[in-house]
Amino acid sequence: MAAISGLIRVMEKAARKAGGRLRRDFGEIEHLQVSRKGPADFVSKADQAAERTIWDELKVARPGWGFLFEEAGEIEGDPGMPRFIVDPLDGTTNFLHGMPHFAISIAVQEPRLDGKGWGEVIAGLVYQPITDESFWAEKSRGAWLQDRRLRVSSRRHLDESLIATGIPFAGKGDAGQWMKIYGGLAPQVAGIRRFGSAALDLAWVAAGRYEGFWEADLSPWDTAAGCLLVREAGGFVSDWKGRSQPICDVEVLAGNDALHTRLHKILVTALKD
Ligand code: IPD
Ligand code: CA
Ligand code: CA
Ligand code: CA
Repeated sequence: MAAISGLIRVMEKAARKAGGRLRRDFGEIEHLQVSRKGPADFVSKADQAAERTIWDELKVARPGWGFLFEEAGEIEGDPGMPRFIVDPLDGTTNFLHGMPHFAISIAVQEPRLDGKGWGEVIAGLVYQPITDESFWAEKSRGAWLQDRRLRVSSRRHLDESLIATGIPFAGKGDAGQWMKIYGGLAPQVAGIRRFGSAALDLAWVAAGRYEGFWEADLSPWDTAAGCLLVREAGGFVSDWKGRSQPICDVEVLAGNDALHTRLHKILVTALKD
């Protein structure tokens, strides 16, 4: 059983409070005000209210820490302090279509020791308000689902593996590139899924539900917590060149220990053609 740290407790309290709001708003989506940030990039009053709730909780619990929010942007903390990276609602499109697959993602990133920018992610939490599942991880302390230790899947063969992805859509991503990778991968695996929340995709790789995940054009708030979850569950996350990055946004390739290299080879070959 994990000894849950004070930091994770604080993050979970904020996520649960915001999750309660999202559950209430999800029951009344027809009354929600929705605006667009881009062609198919929506933000609703629910995203903003959840973000506000998280901010109100965390700024009291950890005074002086900074924030990187999807909606409100960057709020600088005191010099030398860590920052929270927050996606108040990952899976907004699902949410707005009444589909119960969305999450809150909160991560903590430390400043670099030389004071130049941001360094390692030391804690991450992905909370799914509908299933009430709380996936969390701390650097060197493992990944957990509530009080159950998580390990990535032990499946070693592509033809028994389920792989998650994010498909480009209006205003985001390169559909031609995605089709090439899909074309190389689909005939070799047991299935490919696109459920619409990158944070949950990564959390589910950590939980062994998926064997792998790839997507491009993600942002720190989509991936920072999920990336730590996969690593602490014994998996690998890299960019598409195979390099390990602290937050692993932009181009993400995650996999269990057995399959990450195989998936990387398929992706590189597909993009060469
Ligand atoms: C989105 C989800 C989705 C991914 C998109 C993200 P949002 O986040 O993670 O799975 O494909 O690229 O923008 O906007 O719902 O927080
Ligand atoms: Ca969004
Ligand atoms: Ca997101
Ligand atoms: Ca979001």
